[in-house]
Amino acid sequence: MTVMAEPRLGRFGDFGGRYVPESLIPACADLEDAFRDAWADPAFRERLDDLLAVYAGRPTPLTPARNLSAELGITLLLKREDLAHTGSHKINNVLGQALLAARMGKSRLIAETGAGQHGVATATAAALLGLRATVYMGERDIARQQLNVFRMALLGAEVVPVTTGSRTLKDATNEAMRAWVADTGEAHFLLGSVSGPHPYPWMVRELQRVIGDEARRQHAGVPDVVVACVGGGSNSAGTFAGFADTGARLVGVEAAGGAAMTHGAPGVVHGARSMVLQDAEGQVAEAESIAAGLDYPGVGPEHAHLGAIGRAEYKAVADGEVVDAVRRLARAEGIICALESAHAVAWVLRAAGTPDLPAGSTVLLTLSGRGDKDMATLGGAR
Ligand SMILES: Cc1ncc(COP(=O)(O)O)c(C=O)c1O
Repeated sequence: MTVMAEPRLGRFGDFGGRYVPESLIPACADLEDAFRDAWADPAFRERLDDLLAVYAGRPTPLTPARNLSAELGITLLLKREDLAHTGSHKINNVLGQALLAARMGKSRLIAETGAGQHGVATATAAALLGLRATVYMGERDIARQQLNVFRMALLGAEVVPVTTGSRTLKDATNEAMRAWVADTGEAHFLLGSVSGPHPYPWMVRELQRVIGDEARRQHAGVPDVVVACVGGGSNSAGTFAGFADTGARLVGVEAAGGAAMTHGAPGVVHGARSMVLQDAEGQVAEAESIAAGLDYPGVGPEHAHLGAIGRAEYKAVADGEVVDAVRRLARAEGIICALESAHAVAWVLRAAGTPDLPAGSTVLLTLSGRGDKDMATLGGAR
């Protein structure tokens, strides 16, 4: 298999690129051309904006977390992606890419999923636009995110269990990319995060920047800190995009067992050069997190760059802190968030009132999804 890097475009500093088999280079180039064309076409943008409004429920609110703010001595504002249709931010990217696939004349969507939220969003858009959907999901994730597997089936998608490797998101992504290689004519690979070969990291960031742009408009003034959880990095990249030109601190929170930014080293995974958890021989290591959506050894290349230049900071939180954060937010605010989103909450709970997040700070936190899917994992956490 020849591996080629895209030499000019799709670079975020030293990171990014297009490290894919030769047979995928034309498909990536076609996708880039199609997205550039669509993104510059007011009719496409209008159609997407309309769907985001009348179908997905945007704009999502910015909710002041008044009780938790009082307890912590900060002002905490929650950007409520849990209230978007299908229950997470994933719908923003999926509606854009599904419209693009239809515009490119594709009849089928291929997707990978970890927590199942991206798979559900893909199955949803496929139903809406009359496309077929095949979703690759690790066996371990199928077992722990059963609700979303049922939802995908009800929506008419085919869910393909992945039995290789750690049987989680990394392996599902491998299989989805393989399936794409076999069917680039009919299929669009609807990647769910800001990872993968160019143009995905840039395209998905552009499709998710609606989160940050809305939040910027919804809050008078610039918050001191903007925080979001980081798996592949799409809800955080979309949030950060709205505040990149401000003085706000940008904080991404990873799972301790999947902390590519905190514990990884530069390497190539799923078609991009980025920060990757790896062993001494440079083999991609297995991640381990209670949150299926953050159980991933890589991270999108833009985050690697933002970290390298010091524009964003990355923190890691442990599973136990995450479970406590779900409970604390639920009890204080009446909001049950996804385990993934709870990573951002957990860092705020840990840092508030310390030099890392001094009392009086205004914090804007993207709550990327709702927690219904995690009830079995939490086992009725008290
Ligand atoms: C609710 C939720 N938040 C966050 C993520 C992580 O993805 P990303 O880092 O691309 O936002 C996922 C992934 O499945 C998710 O379902």
